[in-house]
Amino acid sequence: MMSRNFIALIAILAVVGPWSALAIKAHDFKTCKDAAFCDRLRGVRGPAVHIDPASVSVSGAHVAASIVNPAAPNATLSLRLLSLGSTVRLHVTELSSLRYEVPGILLPSVSEMLEEWKVLQTSDDALELQTSAGHRVVLGFSPPSVACFSPSGEPILKWNADGYFAFEHTRTKQEGDPEGWWEEEFRGHRDSKPQGPNAIAFDVLMEGVQHVYGIPERASRLSLPASVDPNGTAPGEPYRMYNLDVFEYLSDSPFGLYGSIPLLMGHRPAQTSAVFWLNAAEMYVDLAKSEAGTSSRWIAESGVLDVFFLLGPSSSAVAAQYARLTGGTALPQLFSLGYHQCRWNYKDEADVAGVDAGFDLHGIPYDVLWLDIEHTDGKRYFTWDKNLFPTPVRMQQDLASRGRKMVNIVDPHIKTDANYRVYKEAEEKGLFVKNKDGTSFKGHCWPGESAYLDVTNPDVRAWWSQQFYTSVYKESTTNLYIWNDMNEPSVFNGPEITMAKDLLHHGGAEHRDVHNAFGLYYHQGTVEGLRNRGFKEISSEYGDRPFVLSRAFFSGTQRLGPIWTGDNSAEWGHLQASVPMLLSLGVAGLPFSGADVGGFFGNPDAELLTRWYQLAAYYPFFRGHAHIETKRREPWLFGEDATRRVREAIRARYRLMPYLYTLFARANATGEPVMRPLFWEFGDDEAVFDNQEEFLVGPGLLVAPALHQGAAAVPVTLPGRGLWHSLDSGRAYDAALEGDRLHVASADLDALPPTYLRGGHAVTMRERPRRSTAAMRGDPVTLVLGLDRAGVARGELYLDDGRSYAYALAGEYVHATFSLKNNELRWATTDGRDLGLPAPSAEYDPGVVVDRIVILGLADPAAWQARAGDRAVEAEPGPVRAATAVETPALVLRKVALPIKGSWTVTLERRAAASS
Ligand code: NOJ
Repeated sequence: MMSRNFIALIAILAVVGPWSALAIKAHDFKTCKDAAFCDRLRGVRGPAVHIDPASVSVSGAHVAASIVNPAAPNATLSLRLLSLGSTVRLHVTELSSLRYEVPGILLPSVSEMLEEWKVLQTSDDALELQTSAGHRVVLGFSPPSVACFSPSGEPILKWNADGYFAFEHTRTKQEGDPEGWWEEEFRGHRDSKPQGPNAIAFDVLMEGVQHVYGIPERASRLSLPASVDPNGTAPGEPYRMYNLDVFEYLSDSPFGLYGSIPLLMGHRPAQTSAVFWLNAAEMYVDLAKSEAGTSSRWIAESGVLDVFFLLGPSSSAVAAQYARLTGGTALPQLFSLGYHQCRWNYKDEADVAGVDAGFDLHGIPYDVLWLDIEHTDGKRYFTWDKNLFPTPVRMQQDLASRGRKMVNIVDPHIKTDANYRVYKEAEEKGLFVKNKDGTSFKGHCWPGESAYLDVTNPDVRAWWSQQFYTSVYKESTTNLYIWNDMNEPSVFNGPEITMAKDLLHHGGAEHRDVHNAFGLYYHQGTVEGLRNRGFKEISSEYGDRPFVLSRAFFSGTQRLGPIWTGDNSAEWGHLQASVPMLLSLGVAGLPFSGADVGGFFGNPDAELLTRWYQLAAYYPFFRGHAHIETKRREPWLFGEDATRRVREAIRARYRLMPYLYTLFARANATGEPVMRPLFWEFGDDEAVFDNQEEFLVGPGLLVAPALHQGAAAVPVTLPGRGLWHSLDSGRAYDAALEGDRLHVASADLDALPPTYLRGGHAVTMRERPRRSTAAMRGDPVTLVLGLDRAGVARGELYLDDGRSYAYALAGEYVHATFSLKNNELRWATTDGRDLGLPAPSAEYDPGVVVDRIVILGLADPAAWQARAGDRAVEAEPGPVRAATAVETPALVLRKVALPIKGSWTVTLERRAAASS
């Protein structure tokens, strides 16, 4: 008898052909020319419209006005300009019809951010205003424009500077309407467009800016190249945002991939700003660079113009402004910062047990083992293939007994099988996305014919979230977390491998309007499911923080969980591309991200795999994954040398865990990325504005990975003008000296990537090698401090149970700041306000101590001794890492044994000169 899997495979092949035939060629996807609205509006200046001066009113934080088009008297638009402190919101929509506004992306608290405008001047041409933060904002009337200036009067940006503003008003169909208004076709897929032309276009000039970043997701440069000349000629392709399942994407292409965040950041020395357009329709952005700055020209197919100007002035200020709109990063469970081992597919329970044991056998830490689609009964999610996984509960408990977790895939396509409970119930309740005739839409995906839940509907999400209770998801345990894949959504037989735009969602919205947010809503339903499960089944008091990985994303995904960059390949180009890809995501407010280690397609050799682990140890999300047709590649299958090197890389990741976790607590509070481009911290150092070969982890740790085959050394640029301390040799580099600023570091395959600690900063570590993060819970902490020229270094540590919401609900956390200054290291726990937390609980004490303190940058480490109160602390020159005993560049304090909770001081004193 043919297995269900096999029948399903045949069903898919019948529709889409075998993998080789599936390989996506560029022509399977639209370019601007293929999308009628983009073709219509790209490079075309908008109609002559103006603000009617008599319509302008100012009330508190609101400016209201009407935009009139003398050529179309029925097409009057309503404009609102809102002041939200250092953020200005411009909202334009039609008076005469209701257009789709993307719900649930902005935090409810945005309505409380409004701050009164101060009117500086009114005339027939313009209204001059000031924000509470001191920015001057000028609303020009003819043509409409919005210009924002810094409190010191410098121009920051100007909306509609080049006159590209166009708003296609809703109309009725007429004889002789241009082609592409009421229907269009792409590769045999007809899009009926009942609303007709509804697109919106505008431009924003970022003044004096040559470097712009963001608008993920694509595998292109961090500093985005221009797509058009300033005068609009010689066009390349505009940057596209339309969430798609792009098979075998190229490692250097502006092509839009699985997720979209319509946020573009512009940076020049002393001024960072950003434009964020809250709109989930298909969108294109052209970039034109000139001496005046960077002109970004935006076009979306439908929706409203709801644009936020984030006025900075620094990149971290922009991050905070964006986080106030769409939220900070969810504080992840500690385990999820560990290493994840995935493959399509771990075959059966014996395979799972073998891989798990392999890690212990080879002394390699890891936290999570993943199961891809083959673990199910015929791709019916929430079921098990009982031939392969006869005792799933035992399997999950076995992992749990060693402090490890399991993650299962759950995709949004639901097999249309009347005997499949999930399908049956959802169909009976009418929960699926609808065809225009009101029937459930059916498309093809892994299980064959499938229906797709309309997750834009909160009631559907609520139903979906119930599927994750262990009583509903049979033979799951609370040790199981979830992976949401294919949620762009991927529809194998749909236009561009996704849903047709004229399908219908909740409230009558067309798929066209919601497309880029669909994946987020699905992710959200799953996250709500795990959150509810945590409070119901783990702790009614403090719950369990969800872990759900998603492939598709939108603005706001950072509140839910991590994403990964999809189906990359085992090629050096993809290793290189992962750095700007992850940096761009961080810039766009989505810091928790990673790329498949080793490359999803193809087979990495030992060198590429080793380099990938060495780099990925610093990715915010760290997971090895591979396609079903690739050779097995668990870290110990490439010989002893590779095993040792990968072990070292993964252990380096685990050593950094306290620092990483603290950075996530910051990202949670401030929206700042964990993995940061150099310009983020060194906003005046123009030479690094487009550096994407190096990156920072947090503010203080610079990583210069080897990204090329055969590399024996890497060229290193140390930004700024301060000191940097090599964490490999302990040597201090002075970035003010050209020979130090630009140097070549050895990058032996045996060594970890060169890393440097920024003078004035510190990292916290846990140095004992363990099998998982769970096993590190009580381990002592090491502080590594890198002095700046003034002999000062500062850092912080955040720690909690790593799992529940007790930190937020009961103040069960420890947050400490420390600084070394004037030879005194002062440690003190804080009241948590700086991290947006409630006051810390007096009782909560994780019982963790600081045991080792490493100080880099003292001229003569041997000349110092240390004291904690009356107690002498062991102090000797030593290496940076306990495990490397070669050099002695640091002052190392041992057996410090001071608690992380509370406050204390360690004093450094010069030893009395030895008498000769
Ligand atoms: C596509 C995903 O990108 C990949 O990671 C996964 O292994 C396959 N779907 C199968 O589920």
